[in-house]
Amino acid sequence: MRKVSVVGAGKYGSLTAMRLAESDIVDQVVMTDIVEGLPQGLALDMNQARPVENYSTMVLGTNDYADTAGSEVVVITAGLARKPGMSRMDLLEVNAKIVKGVTESILEYSPDATLVVVTNPLDHMTTLAFEVSGLPSNKVIGQAGILDSSRFVHFISEKLGVPISEVKAMTLGSHGETMVPVPSQCSVSGKPLTEVLSQADIDELVDRTRAGGAEIVGLLKTGSAYFAPSSAAAAMVKAIITDSKEIMPVCAMTAGEYGIEGVYLGVPARLGAKGIEEVVELNLTDAEKSLLVEAADAVKAKVDELHTITFD
Ligand code: LAC
Repeated sequence: MRKVSVVGAGKYGSLTAMRLAESDIVDQVVMTDIVEGLPQGLALDMNQARPVENYSTMVLGTNDYADTAGSEVVVITAGLARKPGMSRMDLLEVNAKIVKGVTESILEYSPDATLVVVTNPLDHMTTLAFEVSGLPSNKVIGQAGILDSSRFVHFISEKLGVPISEVKAMTLGSHGETMVPVPSQCSVSGKPLTEVLSQADIDELVDRTRAGGAEIVGLLKTGSAYFAPSSAAAAMVKAIITDSKEIMPVCAMTAGEYGIEGVYLGVPARLGAKGIEEVVELNLTDAEKSLLVEAADAVKAKVDELHTITFD
């Protein structure tokens, strides 16, 4: 039986579970949460949509990690979301404790799982899951680049009134202040972004992308985004489960690519059955490369802070 699990039955987790079930690529999606009844009720509701949506994957809602045993991929969404005015970094300590516990519980039942981390602050929680799990780095991946790139594409397509299929855009770096949108990799109907938008317009869209999560938190007042984030997480799981070998911007361990070593950072990577199959080195401009190095330094500094947290 092919199985994936999602930890956390909040909006992000439950929508990820639903999107995965609807893609019909595994037999079972297990959704676990500490709140009694919540994953069970949501799973029952999702399963009752199967005849209308016409897919066969069943969702199992549970409070027991034993039910996740044998998962090929586990998405970790557990943790607190931001409130208006908070940065993702304000969640470092509280979510570190949650992610550490979740990672240990998952590994107890699925020692060979590939982990997809989405809990914020993203780059740091992915690093923590890697360190706690003892898994090879190709099996611990963070979600952010697909979401940020998707936001960037949306903003460009909206600004120019062109279909999203004609826009190619990518963001790298961290999921936060040091996010690096890379105009050199962006094009609209085959033309470089710089030919179709003024620098002022590009800067405005880049800023809006970088603050994309905060803009939604500010509007919602409670909780953070979940529709686009869950699409992004599900896309990664699908690439791994179907061994698609697609290149996607994800948070991956670097080993000298772009001159960066030993840091989890948003980079383009090929995803397949092994998780990260390779980190891909694109032809970035010198300016983009130095922004990426700056992003890596910022992540490294916060990871040092993460290492000072005492876990009981
Ligand atoms: C966002 C959160 C999920 O960017 O980090 O919306």
